Order: sequence, then C-alpha cells, then structure tokens
Amino acid sequence: MSPFVGAIDQGTTSSRFVIVDAQGEFVAMAQKEHEQVLPRPGWVEHNPAAIFANTEAVIAEALGKAGIRASDLAGVGITNQRETTVVWDRETGKAVSNAIVWQDTRTADIAKSLSESFGTEAFRERTGLPPATYFAGPKVRWILDQYPDLYQRAVDGELAFGTIDSWLAWNLTGLHVTDVTNASRTMLMDLESLSWDSELCDAVGVPMAMLPEIVPSIGEIGACTGVLEGTALTTILGDQHAALVGQAAFGVGDTKVTYGTGAFLVANTGTEIVRSNTGLLTTVAYQVAGEQAKYALEGSVAIAGSAVQWLRDNIGIIDTAQEIEALAATVPDNGDVYFVPAFSGLFAPYWRSDARGVLVGLTRFTNKGHIARAVLEATAFQTRDVLEAMVADTHQELPELRVDGGMVANTLLMRFQADILGMDVVVPAVTETTVLGAAFGAGMAAGVWSGPDEVSLHWDEAVRYLPSMRGDVRAGYLRGWAKAVDRSFDWVEE
Ligand SMILES: Nc1ncnc2c1ncn2[C@@H]1O[C@H](COP(=O)(O)OP(=O)(O)OP(=O)(O)O)[C@@H](O)[C@H]1O
Ligand SMILES: [Mg+2]
Repeated sequence: MSPFVGAIDQGTTSSRFVIVDAQGEFVAMAQKEHEQVLPRPGWVEHNPAAIFANTEAVIAEALGKAGIRASDLAGVGITNQRETTVVWDRETGKAVSNAIVWQDTRTADIAKSLSESFGTEAFRERTGLPPATYFAGPKVRWILDQYPDLYQRAVDGELAFGTIDSWLAWNLTGLHVTDVTNASRTMLMDLESLSWDSELCDAVGVPMAMLPEIVPSIGEIGACTGVLEGTALTTILGDQHAALVGQAAFGVGDTKVTYGTGAFLVANTGTEIVRSNTGLLTTVAYQVAGEQAKYALEGSVAIAGSAVQWLRDNIGIIDTAQEIEALAATVPDNGDVYFVPAFSGLFAPYWRSDARGVLVGLTRFTNKGHIARAVLEATAFQTRDVLEAMVADTHQELPELRVDGGMVANTLLMRFQADILGMDVVVPAVTETTVLGAAFGAGMAAGVWSGPDEVSLHWDEAVRYLPSMRGDVRAGYLRGWAKAVDRSFDWVEE
C-alpha cells in the first residue's frame, strides 16, 4: 500500500496541491494564485480554464518536489471554494462564461423573487438555506438567462452545471459528479434524501439534465487521467467541510472556525439535521460511502482575510497581509473606530444583501493604525456574532474554539478573538486544515487510515490563547460593534 495521498485545494484566491504521508505530514506543496475578475461593483468572476490549468500545474510541481509519480498516490481528494458556479458544454468541455464566484451579488433580484414566490421558509426547510446571492442555484439561472439558446441547450442535455469540485472532477476523471457537501450549497438538494429536488430545480429555473450525480464525500469516485493518471479520486469535500475533517472534528458538538477569504464557523451535529432560528445554515458535514451523512450548522462570514487583502491591494496602507499586525500594534486599541466589511452584503446571522461596508467612529485623532486594528477586529466580532447564534441554536456552550486558516498566524487577532469571545482559542499544529481534511478523506477511502479514530491521532494542539479582557471592556466593544453593523444596513437601494 502506498504511503502517500494527494489533495487539491482549489480556493477563492489560489489553488494548492499537497502530498501527505501516512503520518499526516506534508511532504510537498505547491500553490498558485489566479486572477479575481471584478467587472462591476459586487461582481466577482474566475476563469474556469485558468483554474484547471493552475490545478494541473500545482499537481505537477508538487509531484516533482516530492520526487514521486501520480501512481504513487493511494488516492486524491478535492476540496474547493464552494458555491462558485460553472456551466460548460459537454461536447467541447469549454465553459460558456466565466465562473460566478460565491461572493458575487448579481443574483440579488433572483434570490429576492425566490423568497417571495417559493418562500424563504420553504427553502430553509428543504435545503437548510435561505434564498441568497451566496448559493449556486441562482447563479446557474443567471448564466442561462444571458443568451437565448442556453436554457434550451441545458434542457437538451448539451450543457453541464457544476460547482468547482465538479469542474475539476470532470476534467480529471471525465465523470460529471459532485459530493453531498457541495450539492448542499446549491439550494437545489433535499437535505434529507440527499438528492436533487425537482420542485426546487423548477422554482429556481435549473434544468435537471444539466445537474451532476451526487456522490458521498469519502469513497471511491473514479480513476484519474492526465496529470493524475494512475491514481483515483477518493474524496470531494467543500472547503469548510474539509476543514472540519482536517480538525478531526468528528464528534457531535465539535466546532471549528476557518479564517481565510471569509470566516466560517462549522459545528458537527452528527446525524441530526438541526434547523436554525438565528440565521445559521444547515448543511451536510460529510458523508462516508455506505454510511449515513453527518450534518452541521454553519455560520458563514463573507469577508475576513479578504478585507486584509483589500487594505493591501485597494487602499495600499500595507504591502503584505502580514504587515497588518505590526501596523495594528502601533496603537493600543481601536480608538473607537469600527469597520464592517459588508462588501457583498452581510451573511450570517444578518443576511442583509442591502448592507455595504462602513468605517465609523472617525475623528481627527484616527490614524492608519486604528484602521488596521478595526479591520482585524471586524473578523473577531463577526466570529462572535455567528458563535452566539450557534449557542442559541444548539443550547450548548462551547468549551473552546478550534481555529485554522491563514489569519491564525496573526497573534494580535487571535488574542483579541479569545478576549472578545471570553473563551480559549486553540490553534492546531497544521493550520492548513482544509487541504489536510481532503487528504484525510482521500486516505481513509484508500485505506491508508482505518477511519476517523486513526485520523484523530494525527491532530495536535500547537497554541492556546486564553481570554484576559475585563467583562465591562468587552461589553463596550460589543456595543460599538452593534452600532457599526446597524450603520451598514439599508445602503443599497432597490
Ligand atoms: N498575518 C496575517 N494577518 C491577517 N491576515 C492574514 C495574515 N496572513 C494571511 N492573511 C489573510 O488570510 C487569507 C489567506 O488565508 P488562507 O490561505 O487560509 O485563505 P483561503 O481562504 O484558504 O484562501 P482561498 O480563499 O483561496 O481558499 C488572506 O485573505 C490574507 O489576507
Ligand atoms: Mg481555503
């Protein structure tokens, strides 16, 4: 049995490939960024061909670094930015347009009319999701509406829809598949039966002939060709679901936050489908082939690390993301400045597509240090908002919070996060948990690890942040944040 597994992490900003050994250690990794196409305010696109080309390139590069061949991999997993939507021609394999990215808000009118016609509650009941610009279904509909013949071609089975996992799987195996976690983000899948719901497809306007086959997340999916010839695809997991697996959060109540482009709190609810009363999403956590699916509650925050990138790329007060920490440390506190990064409206727990970003509390005293701090603190406040919602839904206080993703390198933010939550914040030894989770899945399906118990042995705690803020100080911050959020509402007019 080969001791290596591979994992593709196709994210919002970059594509990575890692090779992991039987101890769960990274043997090699390669990464490549792709262009963010921003044609108008609120629109975000990716070029699907470029995404696949980058994926092939990082696979070849990492295999080269490790000095192994694809056939030395016991299995390969895909984890991916979720909801981002591609429609392609089955004959030519070419996408009919750029992919519409999860953050894109162009489908606001479609989401609104679905709320009114079919009903927000009906969608929540069947799919675990409220109609919102975030999800894939309305994005498919938008693409089909662009050209007169596309809808008919989709009905005739000439076109295929897929989220990024499907797009990669199609190009790597020739199969048109998606896994239950990605399918649970489309507004088209019934959460209980784990199959496409014809009424929902009808309501959203997505012909069923273009939908991929839904498969379990972890299990034999198909043989790979091309750059991965000689190995098999054995896992597909949406990025947040993979991070849950990568954190070895297999138990009921196990919860993690991943701070990347956005920030995503996910709590494992086991085989129970827990409905949220507080604006959280109900979603599939993962499914092992032949077993019942595990479900999760999720608090999705659209903008976290990407606000740091925005400071770097659009505002220019830092040259690298890392520099934000030093800049924020030039001031002792936020100077009563708050930043709400509602660039694509606000996701959980507010779901306000009419919100836009605000920077409030400015005085002649404010300097760029305060702004840097406000940008970092926004991620901690948003995380607190979704955690509170989670506690309200599950009636369970969390003992501690497991965190991962690029922003956990920022100690100022992690300290503030522990302070503003009043809770221990725990960073694992491997913070690249998304790609690690895909590797864990791929390795479990391929028999490298026997199952979750064995995988859990490869999870280690590295750093623990303890809260030290006084309660009255925290309360003051939370009042400031609540006022700032309120100021972001009602900005976009109908
Ligand atoms: N030291 C830092 N302080 C604050 N933010 C940081 C720091 N280092 C990285 N970031 C932010 O973290 C994000 C990168 O984290 P990560 O690589 O986990 O993102 P990601 O979500 O996996 O990316 P993708 O969206 O491509 O999947 C970037 O948005 C970056 O601005
Ligand atoms: Mg990621």
